[in-house]
Amino acid sequence: MSVPDKALRATVGLLERWEQGASLADLLPDIGGDRIVHNTVLTILRTLASLDVLIDSASAGKVRKRLRPVLRWGTCQALYMQGLPDAAAVDVCVRYARRRFGRHQGAYVNAVLRNITAVIRAGSVEPLLAAAPLHVRLGLGPELVRRWEKRFPPDELADLAGVLQQNAPLTVRLRAGAPVPSDPDSLACLRLPDWAGDASFYISTDAHALFRSAEFARGDFYVQDPSTAMAPRMLDVQPGERVADLCAAPGGKSVMLAEALGRAGMLACADRSCRRMRRVRENLAGDDACLIVADAARAPFERGSFDAVLLDVPCSNTGVIRRRPDVRWRFSTRQLRELVDLQRRILAESAGLLRPGGRIVYSTCSIEPEENGEQVRWLTEGGTPLRLVTERELLPCKTHDGAYAALLIRD
Ligand SMILES: C[S@@+](CC[C@H](N)C(=O)[O-])C[C@H]1O[C@@H](n2cnc3c(N)ncnc32)[C@H](O)[C@@H]1O
Repeated sequence: MSVPDKALRATVGLLERWEQGASLADLLPDIGGDRIVHNTVLTILRTLASLDVLIDSASAGKVRKRLRPVLRWGTCQALYMQGLPDAAAVDVCVRYARRRFGRHQGAYVNAVLRNITAVIRAGSVEPLLAAAPLHVRLGLGPELVRRWEKRFPPDELADLAGVLQQNAPLTVRLRAGAPVPSDPDSLACLRLPDWAGDASFYISTDAHALFRSAEFARGDFYVQDPSTAMAPRMLDVQPGERVADLCAAPGGKSVMLAEALGRAGMLACADRSCRRMRRVRENLAGDDACLIVADAARAPFERGSFDAVLLDVPCSNTGVIRRRPDVRWRFSTRQLRELVDLQRRILAESAGLLRPGGRIVYSTCSIEPEENGEQVRWLTEGGTPLRLVTERELLPCKTHDGAYAALLIRD
């Protein structure tokens, strides 16, 4: 089987699982190191609505659900990917459809994809998409657009959607105590505002060179987005403190908390997912930390026993759509309500774990007010002994993802 045949088969398999409800985050580990499949899946999930408009306009009748993944792959190749001539991409799709679904379906795929390549050659894609509904033009799910239209003026919404259509750069943090890289050829230093504190971030300009470097092999770098530095920085952990990170996996922020403690004090990391806690264990290898699998809404810790608690709660992820492009199609108000409820239960329970004078940082990678400031207001106005000290929201931009963090102190 040729490389494109294998890539198509792998991509269609992943897209089918995605259609059945798996998230991109669940699927990524199965892609492994296959950059071609990885890039194609991300591109398809980012441009899904435009691909479907083209596919629907090129089909004589209603497109069969089972053929859509293969048509999306073929259209994506012709429109956005380089390397495979259009005719070759169509042939790969036709062979696949014929083998799997029979001769007639192969002929149908052939007709649709040849119509699409003709539209592309005629330069008619732009006018076709310009006439599509707003959410298609913005490359966002309709529910998200309805919500964001109420919040952002049209030009700001278009700018935000433009940012979310971009591929996020590969960014790394230099771990505390690691030497500044001597050969920065594959890295560009990022200057960040004060919310990142003294964390040093770099954009990788050559991922292969970075992953092959001695520094990377030694563990000097941690792959993470700069926005993730905001919450640990706000918590401002000091050596000797008792600290809990209650939604810790995969552990990016736990690593920063462990660095701030510098082996003096105590770090307890918990997460509800046993599978994801394994990643925390790998990421904290060599650091002193107590790891447990636990529900943060019923955390098995002594009340009043912590100086500082980080609550990096599960959320709708609307701030990290560049890295998780499927979030834009999956966002729903119903799911948001469920998340808000879970976040409230975690917040209410965790407040009791703090000693008087102790502090909590509540954070999300969402930009939805219901998950951010409104949650903090709900807590502080609800009779708990917590008071808001500061809060900050970052909107996604070229250099970082979106995020929210609030610092609260127990009186
Ligand atoms: C935003 S992620 C945390 C990212 C992590 N802080 C980091 O920096 O790598 C949210 C985490 O909350 C976990 N989670 C979801 N519900 C939970 C619950 N009820 N109790 C504890 N953890 C939960 C998820 O498994 C997920 O790992």
